[in-house]
Amino acid sequence: MQDIEQRIRELREQINYHNYRYYVLNAPVISDAEYDRLFRELQSLEEAHPELIAPDSPTQRVGGEPQEKFEKVRHPAPILSLASTTEPEGIREWLARISKLLPEGVRAEDLDFVVEPKIDGLTVVLHYVDGVFVQGATRGNGEIGEDITANLRTIKGLPLRIPADPAVTLPVPPRLAVRGEAYMPLDAFAKFNRSLEENGEKPFANPRNAAAGSLRQLDPSITAARPLSLWCYAIVAGEGLDIATQWQALDYLRSMGFPVARDVAHLRTVDEVIAYCQEWMKKRDTLNYEADGVVIKINDLRLQEALGVVGKDPRGALAFKFPAREATTKLLDAEASVGRTGALTPVAVLEPVELGGVTIKHASLHNYEDVARKDIRIGDTVVIKRAGDVIPYVAGPIVDLRDGSERPITMPERCPVCGEPVVQPEDEVAVYCVNAACPAQLKRRVRHFVAAMEIDGLGERTVDLFVDEGLVHDAADLYTLRAEDILKLEGFAEKSTENLLAAIEASKQQPFWRVLTALGIRYVGSVVAQTLARRFPSIDALMQADQEEIQNVEGIGPRIAASVVDYFGRPRHREMIEKLRRAGLRLAEEEREKEEKPLPLAGKTFVITGTLPTMSREAATAFIERYGGKVTGSVSAKTDYLVVGESPGGTKYRKAQELGVPMIDEAQLREMVGAGAGEQDNGNWIQEQLPLGL
Ligand code: IVH
Repeated sequence: MQDIEQRIRELREQINYHNYRYYVLNAPVISDAEYDRLFRELQSLEEAHPELIAPDSPTQRVGGEPQEKFEKVRHPAPILSLASTTEPEGIREWLARISKLLPEGVRAEDLDFVVEPKIDGLTVVLHYVDGVFVQGATRGNGEIGEDITANLRTIKGLPLRIPADPAVTLPVPPRLAVRGEAYMPLDAFAKFNRSLEENGEKPFANPRNAAAGSLRQLDPSITAARPLSLWCYAIVAGEGLDIATQWQALDYLRSMGFPVARDVAHLRTVDEVIAYCQEWMKKRDTLNYEADGVVIKINDLRLQEALGVVGKDPRGALAFKFPAREATTKLLDAEASVGRTGALTPVAVLEPVELGGVTIKHASLHNYEDVARKDIRIGDTVVIKRAGDVIPYVAGPIVDLRDGSERPITMPERCPVCGEPVVQPEDEVAVYCVNAACPAQLKRRVRHFVAAMEIDGLGERTVDLFVDEGLVHDAADLYTLRAEDILKLEGFAEKSTENLLAAIEASKQQPFWRVLTALGIRYVGSVVAQTLARRFPSIDALMQADQEEIQNVEGIGPRIAASVVDYFGRPRHREMIEKLRRAGLRLAEEEREKEEKPLPLAGKTFVITGTLPTMSREAATAFIERYGGKVTGSVSAKTDYLVVGESPGGTKYRKAQELGVPMIDEAQLREMVGAGAGEQDNGNWIQEQLPLGL
């Protein structure tokens, strides 16, 4: 019997150690098969001797029955929160404030700092008695949390016994409480969400919600199936431990076998701290976890203590928050917006919320299929995201906050502007208003024309006014506007009318390719228009070409060619072109305009991962190809850029990180080709379809 006890102890120690090597250090020293062999041996010994099963046994990570509810736990010391700043200046101000409060003999210049990532997860407090993990709790209100021990045990990186490495000889206090953050790594989150969707379940809006939802499960076997990770950063209580600095505390935690973030720094001056924070902000998109900022801590723990607390925020630490990419707000309503092509897109009307320095009142809901898949409802609290200068969009609802009053978002049966019934083409998810006279479409088309022809001084509101007043029935009518008609409108005086007409007149000198762009043919943005104009140097040549001739042009695919042929096949369009001709616009290339310009993405290879905010995978591929680039399915040394969307795939992401392949988002991709909002690349490009004042 003693031999068996001895063997069980050995096995536990070994397995816990190998777990630590694998999950915390990322450096296993035995094969998976060898590990499994040890694990099975322990399992069968414990089955034969259930009286010897102990809580620190690695076989006991998932155990026990589902609970009725979570018990309350009082924390050994208040679990404080943090003051924060978003500006580098705020860091200097913080330091200036505490400089006045330093004890006798301590000078501000002598302070040193530890800077750590602020991982966006869920705060947890872990209790160890004689080196064994006995209890884990949520933060709760900072004094009392909830007992989620059974769930926390399932996190593989959490040491069930410390030190995880038996070779470590540091003292283990009889009681130790450690603070950390449980989170879901981005690659695991993406995979997890995909598996939810495949099973017809709703995806989570972000990794934080996924982590929180996973830890709130009453049945630990569900939590065990969720890919949670942990990182620890503070000792809340440690009997008899003598640790003087935060840097030593991190070291101690690391030695005991706790996962500690790698991206931490020990810095001497505030300038170093600020530089590091800014470095960090740039690096943010390349990491496999979501950090919403960094935490700056005075290294000297006694000093931290002496500086005390304001409200719930210790003076000795400060969060430097990165610009938000996400906010939560209420979805008040969903409107259908009519695009230039007549496509109806759902747009969320939101309770105004601040995000990245602007107030957001509307956000894209992409399309009705997406709304149904994510089960977004009116009345939901939703997560709004925004990356770079891309249009904000609704990432998903927070289902836990529903009260039952939420209503589904339905696809409209009629155009919200002209009232005509909508049509859904068989092979598309979008519904369309096909009324050629629909004023909403007309406004969008004219606005697009004005932007493409660079008619400065003719704003969107004025365009709308001209349409509403019946002065403009198509873009060509701009050229027959008369001063006396405009002067009758509110807000126009002699001078402004004169300027406006002069700007319209001047646009007649724009080159042929701009006119071609301005027509708003689907899939024909400025680059395609230039390509077409080189091969078909007049509108007549292009109108006479058939689909085959058009798609034979390098850089033009069948989809574009079909769209061009369809456009010129419609009498309404031909009539407008004749009006433009009469007005004196350039409908043919001038000699000097013909010089060759290489496509902006020529020779570049791209890989796409994750969901892009406004383009489907196919649209993004078409976009890149149209500008001369190539898209491949996996990252290699030949990849020039990884285009990263929401929930990126782990393999591509890691490979790109390894190889140092630059990562860009959709906005940056658009910037590379100089394509802004006026650049219509597919019928669903949302920006132009959002209401004014977004
Ligand atoms: S220190 C007394 N360090 O951010 C120290 N907090 O907004 C107070 N967090 O609720 C916290 N990473 O859960 C600290 N490296 C880190 C952190 C961190 C994430 C969380 C923490 C807290 C919140 C404060």
